[in-house]
Amino acid sequence: MFESLKPQPADKILALMQAYKEDPRDTKIDLGVGVYKNAEGVTPIMRAVKAAERHLWESETTKTYTGLAGDPVFADALSTLILGDDKPADRLAAVATPGGTGAVRLGFDLARMANPGMRVFVSDPTWPNHLSILKYLDQETVTYRYFDNDTGGVDFDGMIADLGGAQAGDVVLLHGCCHNPTGANLNLTQWQAVIDLINAKGLIPMIDIAYQGFGDGLDADAAGTRLVVKNCPEVIIAASCSKNFGIYRERTGLLMAISETPAQQGVTQGSLAYLNRQTYSFPPDHGARLVGMILTDDALRADWMAELEEVRLGMLDLREQLATELRNLSGSDRFGFLAQHRGMFSRLGVSPEIVEKLRADHGVYMVGDSRMNIAGLNKNTVPVLAQAIIDAGA
Ligand code: LMR
Repeated sequence: MFESLKPQPADKILALMQAYKEDPRDTKIDLGVGVYKNAEGVTPIMRAVKAAERHLWESETTKTYTGLAGDPVFADALSTLILGDDKPADRLAAVATPGGTGAVRLGFDLARMANPGMRVFVSDPTWPNHLSILKYLDQETVTYRYFDNDTGGVDFDGMIADLGGAQAGDVVLLHGCCHNPTGANLNLTQWQAVIDLINAKGLIPMIDIAYQGFGDGLDADAAGTRLVVKNCPEVIIAASCSKNFGIYRERTGLLMAISETPAQQGVTQGSLAYLNRQTYSFPPDHGARLVGMILTDDALRADWMAELEEVRLGMLDLREQLATELRNLSGSDRFGFLAQHRGMFSRLGVSPEIVEKLRADHGVYMVGDSRMNIAGLNKNTVPVLAQAIIDAGA
């Protein structure tokens, strides 16, 4: 039987991670996979996470199953963190999932269950795994223009023109903040214009929010998502705690689905629980429980927010420093967009040949489309990277 299996394409981001590990140069710089690293190159366990783990270890009395939706404290606290205090609780269904990817996958499944004929509109570019999952599901997918390589900003006219081709019932996948892989984001006026188009055409917004708190702050990063929820009758939201709680391997995510009416909420909740049961039964609990504990304890929450803010400001400093170094070396402001981008990533906008040169000649690892993980830098490596970018001919 297995002889009929075909080799699967390697995931580009994970292959790059492996190539970096195997590179013996001690001057190498890892700007690949989206994992936060501090100035020492370490991905720390956040203080509040460690404290919550200690408390959980002492207080947890059973490892029996949770419900299919996972810990309700987690779902309630995380949905409030994302949607704010005026979340539409009576229309909101939510289940814990294995990471944000689990939420994305189940979000597509939910949309397909509700409307098997729908198409999914995704930004060009988007996180490669969005495309990979959609392909695996054999789901018809359409790209909309998003990134303007010349300015490093959003090609908003192109985006609106391409979304104009969507039909009622089609799903529009949006990045809640900190667009992966470009770092270029919609402003609130643009979010509103997208919402108007979605409503005029009867489209379903699906938001992937994986970097809340990494861009302009916890509330600012959720503002687009909250605007969508306020204005659109139905919304799907896939959220991840991997980055903002630093609990990557705990696989902690939340899938939310907002129905048009409170009367529909129960069936939507049941459908989400059903999808969990068919896919892996109960979602992982450890990370979700830690997040629930942190968000509902004033001291832990305050400490988590303070540490997250340090992380965010550190990445902004690195962005500013890199834009300045490149301005000095190139004598132009053509890389100024790096300081405007938000989140962990920026797309540099250089050719795959230059990306390859950076790897081969300078040991700089970035994804082939020139996506850089800003958190892979520190004060000492920024000038090295800037010089390498110029030397590679960018
Ligand atoms: C990334 O984009 O690098 C992260 O989301 C990690 C991953 O799973 O690809």
